[in-house]
Amino acid sequence: MARHGKAEVQAAEWLPRLTHSARRLAPLAVMGLALMVVLAGCGGMNMDQDQPYSTLSPMTSKTRDIQGLYTMIFWAALVVFVVVQAAIVYTVLKFRRRNDERPEQVHGSRVAEIAWTVIPAVLLLMITIPTIKTIFAHAEAEKTADFQVEVYGKQWWWEIQYPNIPASEGSEAGPLITANEVVLPQGANVLFSLRSNNVIHSFWVPQLSGKTDLMPGHDNKLQFVAENVGEYYGECAEFCGGAHAWMRFKVLVLPQDEFDAWVKAYQSSPGGEGGGSDVAKVPAAFGVCLVCHNVNGTNANIAKNGLASNPYGVQAGPNLTNLACRDTIAAGMLENTPENMRLWLTKTDEVKDGVYMPNYYKAGQINDEQVDELVTYLTSLKPAGGCPKDPPVGGNPLYVTTNTVDSEVPAAAPASGAGDAAATPEANQ
Ligand code: CUA
Repeated sequence: MARHGKAEVQAAEWLPRLTHSARRLAPLAVMGLALMVVLAGCGGMNMDQDQPYSTLSPMTSKTRDIQGLYTMIFWAALVVFVVVQAAIVYTVLKFRRRNDERPEQVHGSRVAEIAWTVIPAVLLLMITIPTIKTIFAHAEAEKTADFQVEVYGKQWWWEIQYPNIPASEGSEAGPLITANEVVLPQGANVLFSLRSNNVIHSFWVPQLSGKTDLMPGHDNKLQFVAENVGEYYGECAEFCGGAHAWMRFKVLVLPQDEFDAWVKAYQSSPGGEGGGSDVAKVPAAFGVCLVCHNVNGTNANIAKNGLASNPYGVQAGPNLTNLACRDTIAAGMLENTPENMRLWLTKTDEVKDGVYMPNYYKAGQINDEQVDELVTYLTSLKPAGGCPKDPPVGGNPLYVTTNTVDSEVPAAAPASGAGDAAATPEANQ
């Protein structure tokens, strides 16, 4: 006859209870673990320039204000979370079902009703008041801005105009225009006018400001003070079509003297090293580019800018003045190297799906030799004295992508006469 000891009997009673409780508490344990992982992630985050797309590394007073609100809300939410979870755990353990009797019903507890109305109301006020104050302060700051920049959202790149800086000194040639790199002098209190003539885009440089849309028919404003010299990464933050994710840009904040040098280089750019306004140096193949691209100081200046539409019914492309001095091409997709320029010219639509720039190479309108000429010409588009900021800094690995084009870039055509169009007919198919 089997005879159980006292301890065995106790274990037999307690074990099911324990496993039952464990099952109930499992979700709580998982939640707690998840919270710890998230907090550990926050703690380990490097809140500086190494996180160029993080709103947690503010570099202007504006983003610091936003960060302050965020931090305050985070801690308030954490307190609420902990208190609510503790109350749940306490309730689950203290009032768990022990028998089949209904527990005491407490409908209409005045104390509970008042508590759970007043506490959230106070919490919401604590969040609302500083938030609204910040919104008004930022709106007020727009009035103090004195450095104008116009940004036009295109599919899928950015046109940057400086309405108060002429394209060439002392001329009536219109404003200085560039693309995909917003260059600013340190300390500038900038007011951006954000515009679009196509779809809605959103201008977002996480470290410098919150995001603001570019709406057709609107003229939205965005202000910040470019406090710190540096390179800041921006993205289009509103879905705007197929290549939305490849609509990147940079904001470069330079010391005043370097900014002045950049402007001077832009204004005096001959459109080619050592005198590209010499039209003899512009390859004939560049003719197909003229419809959409302007180069200051040359006769390549028929493409329309800003909100104007191109007479040929196609969307104009980026201004190419001093192109060789930019860090990236294709709106932040590729590092600006001769190899990538060749890739861009020969596999345009594969590099950037949906791009409006036609692939003239694939269409057979330019051959390998002409691609070479174009690469040579485009990489020579810098001031006679070299780029004002030298060399192009190229790549943050987060920023410059290795694109996923599957096939090889066509090799450069042989330097001497052997590489003429007739010798490589297959390249034009
Ligand atoms: Cu432009 Cu998304």
